[in-house]
Amino acid sequence: MSNRRELLLIPGPTPVSDEVLHALSQKTISHTDERFVKVFAKALEEMHPFFGMSQGQTFIISGSGTLGMEISLSNILNEGESLLVVSHGYFGDRFAEIGKTLGLDVDILKSNTGKTIHEDSLKDYLNRKKYAAITFTHVDTSTGVIADMEKFSKLVKKISPDTLIVLDGVCATGGVPEEMDKWGIDVIFTGSQKAIAVPPGLTMLAFSERALKKRRKMKKMRTYYGDILRWIPVMNDPHKYFATPPVNMIFALEKSLSTIIEKGLNNYYEKHRKLARKVRTAMKVFGFENLPREEDAAPTLSVFSYPAGVEDFKFRTALKEKGVTVAGALGKLKGKYFRMGHMGNITEQDIDLALKLIEEVLKEK
Ligand SMILES: Cc1ncc(COP(=O)(O)O)c(C=O)c1O
Repeated sequence: MSNRRELLLIPGPTPVSDEVLHALSQKTISHTDERFVKVFAKALEEMHPFFGMSQGQTFIISGSGTLGMEISLSNILNEGESLLVVSHGYFGDRFAEIGKTLGLDVDILKSNTGKTIHEDSLKDYLNRKKYAAITFTHVDTSTGVIADMEKFSKLVKKISPDTLIVLDGVCATGGVPEEMDKWGIDVIFTGSQKAIAVPPGLTMLAFSERALKKRRKMKKMRTYYGDILRWIPVMNDPHKYFATPPVNMIFALEKSLSTIIEKGLNNYYEKHRKLARKVRTAMKVFGFENLPREEDAAPTLSVFSYPAGVEDFKFRTALKEKGVTVAGALGKLKGKYFRMGHMGNITEQDIDLALKLIEEVLKEK
């Protein structure tokens, strides 16, 4: 491997700073050692502003974002209960698959590719049937579409106030404000490897008081490791044991959370908005179009179509040879689009360099 700077601009995992890597690489100590217990408790507390919550319970569990999806549904819905999945792409569809696996009665409201669902369709679904829960994907990483959660959750609350709202924040939390209290979200979760800029391996979740109440009423659990009632005692007092926590990953997570908080979470959100604008303005000049309209486009990633004559695999390979890794598109967008992450520990200089190298690749074509 060359020692040239490599820029990882895929929509997760994202580049990890030296200080976070340093936290990760410290000597492993006991999971009941006071030094670790303090850091674990601090990280659990530090997740609160990321989720916009002042009540409820946070969790940090080893496993990826998909585990977060599964924990969310299995802890609030009994077999046979109804779930409405709002899907803006591949990761919305995954919620429906998980729901079916758990024996739920799943309906799916899918948007046209690259678009958000229309409010009226959501109203129709909610007026026709009473759902025990509804899921949204804050940013669908396959299409780059962001869901307007203020608008959608208001609508759910108005038509069906008892429906629990679940939000997948895997490609959003940290890069986009999330307001569990204000929007009335019941379960929200994310992964470590995106805007929070830690290696993959952790899912962080929050359950509202209402969601916790529902879990306590459930008699039968379809998951052992994912049962939040087994984890709550540990999250309230990390001296306790249920399953060994990933000590070093939690050191790394806490480092990243405290660094972001120190610099200001709002500044971090603003950085994401600024980088997204910069990337999309420059790419448009080069002939690349972002899939969603700007109003529906996430600040964390873009999903670009190619200008005429630019071939997907050749373009991404040439760019990788210059040190910039971007990701191919998913599903039916494959080959026609590529995905570029601009979230987490990425600077304006990184983006300037990536844009310069993209321009070079286009010239050399
Ligand atoms: C929006 C969204 N949800 C869920 C997942 C699944 O997360 P993981 O791959 O960490 O299991 C991803 C992964 O990219 C995602 O982007």
